Amino acid sequence: MYKKLIRPILFKFDPEEVHYFTFSMLKNFSFLAKIFLPKPVVDKRLEREVFGLKFKNPVGLAAGFDKNAVLFEELSDLGFGFIEIGTLTPKGQPGNDKKRLFRLMEDSAIINRMGFNNDGVDAAVERLKKNKNVLIGGNIGKNKVTPNEDAVNDYKICFEKLFPYVDYFVVNVSSPNTPNLRELQDKEPLTQLLGTLQQMNSEKTAPKPILLKIAPDLSDEQLLDIIDIVKETKIAGVIATNTTLSREGLSSENKSETGGLSGKPLTKRSTEVIRFLSEKSNRAFPIIGVGGIHTAKDAIEKLDAGASLIQLYTGFIYEGPELINEINKELLKRASRLPR
Ligand SMILES: Cc1cc2nc3c(=O)[nH]c(=O)nc-3n(C[C@H](O)[C@H](O)[C@H](O)COP(=O)(O)O)c2cc1C
Repeated sequence: MYKKLIRPILFKFDPEEVHYFTFSMLKNFSFLAKIFLPKPVVDKRLEREVFGLKFKNPVGLAAGFDKNAVLFEELSDLGFGFIEIGTLTPKGQPGNDKKRLFRLMEDSAIINRMGFNNDGVDAAVERLKKNKNVLIGGNIGKNKVTPNEDAVNDYKICFEKLFPYVDYFVVNVSSPNTPNLRELQDKEPLTQLLGTLQQMNSEKTAPKPILLKIAPDLSDEQLLDIIDIVKETKIAGVIATNTTLSREGLSSENKSETGGLSGKPLTKRSTEVIRFLSEKSNRAFPIIGVGGIHTAKDAIEKLDAGASLIQLYTGFIYEGPELINEINKELLKRASRLPR
């Protein structure tokens, strides 16, 4: 239904306009989605307990789609097991100039240089107050105008304000679209940033899981550093991966646009990063696997490589909401094959 009927129409228009149009359709006519889209798969065997949280299924929506926590309820109704909002920054900011979002049709990919466009953490908090039972991840970052030396403060502000309203946190230092942000992935600033947040967290009556979201462009040596830092700061886990700066093997017209590349060209690399982290750490911490999941097979490969949960973004745009059910149905098939 989505790929045959809806996508051909949506893909005729500018990707960012389509994004806002789809949002307002889902917000105002969510009853239509309930009539026309397949019912989400619900089954006890899909439930997962990871870093102390109960997920109704392991398929989540990745950060960047519902940056401002506007649509988490409607998106959860489509069948996602959890929704990650953000990246949020302390103050609202417009992001980079348009045009900043590009489809690469022949490559089943997207390039974006949005630049953390968001309404700011306070606006998101107001919306999250109405949340009844959607499991929410809060993905946090720094404002563009904040220099890296002061970045910790921005993360602290977001952490403190969001604390009562999200189930887990994601520290995003891996977006390629905020100048110099990825430098915060270096050992020293990262240990300091995560250490500070984890200290604040430990002072709470009921601390919440903090995860680190990493780029797929890190070297093996840098990934080994990440393992050390996760262990040293005792954060709950890692999200692997964000978008890539690589442009290997692309054929679409838009391949030279600046920004982060997501979708099929990222599938293999993000799975490699998951496998590396899982093997080299001896599965010491949970990993959420994201990057180029367009089929149930892609999802299973990430789980087999060591991910405990997975997330979708570009695959959701290209394949539609049916992809969530497809993955969950495949997981159920596998579960029924396991010896009891
Ligand atoms: C348009 C767009 C905006 C994104 N914005 C964010 C963001 O704000 N924060 C973040 O952590 N990741 C962001 N991402 C990255 C995704 O969450 C995901 O890590 C990445 O796209 C790889 O997954 P995919 O291949 O399934 O899209 C964005 C991705 C896209 C395509």
